[in-house]
Amino acid sequence: MSSSKQIPEVSTFTFLRQAIKILNNPLPFHHKNFERYGDIFKLNIGFGNYAFFSRDAELAEYVFQKNWKNYTKSAIQTEDLAKYLGKGLLTSEGELWKKQRKLIQPAFHKKHLEHLMTTIKETIVAELSTIKINTDVDVLPIFSNLAFKVVVKSLFSNAATNAEIKILQEVTEENQLMLVKELRQPYLKWYFQSFGVIDKHLARSKESRAILQAIIERRQHSATKYYDLLDMLLEARYDDGSSMGMEQLIDEILVLFVAGHETTANSLSFTVQLLAHHTEWQEKVRTQYQSIVSDGKTDTMTTILQSQLAKQVIEESLRLYPPAYFMDRVNIEDDEFKGYHFKKGSSFLFSILEIHKHKELWEQPDDFNPDRFSPEKAKTYSSHYFPFGAGPRKCIGNNFAIFEMILAISEILLKFNILPVKETIDINPLITLKPKNAIVRFENHSL
Ligand code: HEM
Repeated sequence: MSSSKQIPEVSTFTFLRQAIKILNNPLPFHHKNFERYGDIFKLNIGFGNYAFFSRDAELAEYVFQKNWKNYTKSAIQTEDLAKYLGKGLLTSEGELWKKQRKLIQPAFHKKHLEHLMTTIKETIVAELSTIKINTDVDVLPIFSNLAFKVVVKSLFSNAATNAEIKILQEVTEENQLMLVKELRQPYLKWYFQSFGVIDKHLARSKESRAILQAIIERRQHSATKYYDLLDMLLEARYDDGSSMGMEQLIDEILVLFVAGHETTANSLSFTVQLLAHHTEWQEKVRTQYQSIVSDGKTDTMTTILQSQLAKQVIEESLRLYPPAYFMDRVNIEDDEFKGYHFKKGSSFLFSILEIHKHKELWEQPDDFNPDRFSPEKAKTYSSHYFPFGAGPRKCIGNNFAIFEMILAISEILLKFNILPVKETIDINPLITLKPKNAIVRFENHSL
């Protein structure tokens, strides 16, 4: 007889009755059951296996960090997403992941990112020039283009043509949409497979791969050094002195497109809407940024590192609207935590959104208050703040994303005032947490 603590269970019948509704928007299901049962509850998913839903920050830290070796990613990333992208960092496991992470990590160190910042800033400024003033604007498409171009330019400098970039972005976004359909309508899987829907998307992925191969080959034959991510990936060496093969390199680039584009675009869209409602923070961020850039001599990296208030606004936005609003894992061996027993093969779904709004962890969790991220408070939240995950599989692009967003938000505020159009900020929980109708107005900011 086991002495482990019982975890409250949501009946399968209750779940099935609302399954379609939950697949379309799982957030009310999560919230209602956390409020009713506490920070963990389970659901029988058949054959004696359970899915555990949790908003327990300590359990999350245990699973992602302390005992991470016992937890693998679920099939959503390692199979469903991998069929379009291949086995890059985000979608691989075990030895392959370990070897790749070690090889790629240095390219994302702050000192390497410094080389990219001028290109990133130029790309942002060019994209912001497309913003129309004094009219309602949905910012999500603007930031999707911006974030995609930033990744492409950071990888390839100017080596990709506009036509190539267009196809790469289209295929990335189409495949993401297809994956959403597959996950939301699992009962149509047979149709997607039998009627060539998935094959059509796989053919488009091949098109992307061919473009990337051509770009890489052009670079391999070039004598110029660009100091961009592609140069770093081509120069990186495994422990045995060998370099990454073409197919693996393409897998990694496709992963960077997906991981680095939608998440950043969503977060910028939420941040701009939050700022529209909090004009005092527009003023604070703008004043600080203006004072840093006013001498015209400060380099881009120093400017970013000094833009503390922009960073706090972005951190608060990532707390309230974490693009990776849930993270999942499966345990390899049986495990125990806080008196709970978890049979091997159990699925875990952590609601990062619920952890970030937990009443016992945050003061007035629903309020927008970037002051909670002031430098002296860093220790008070690090154990329950996971916008970029935690542990060895934490986002490799976290600094990249924060730096990019600091530049984008600061440059927007230098040019514009942001005005609200809607009273609410609406969300669309897909694979990532997306904004719905992210409409604001921009007007010229006169100094
Ligand atoms: C606001 C923007 C971003 C957010 C919220 C975000 C969030 C995350 C999270 C939560 C994970 C961990 C997933 C898990 O453990 O299951 C992750 C992984 C990853 N992210 Fe990001 N990310 C962002 C931007 C970026 C950017 C800009 C890049 C690259 C240019 C990037 C590349 C990656 C990669 C390659 C991984 C897989 C790392 C590994 O498994 O070793 N991300 N990201």
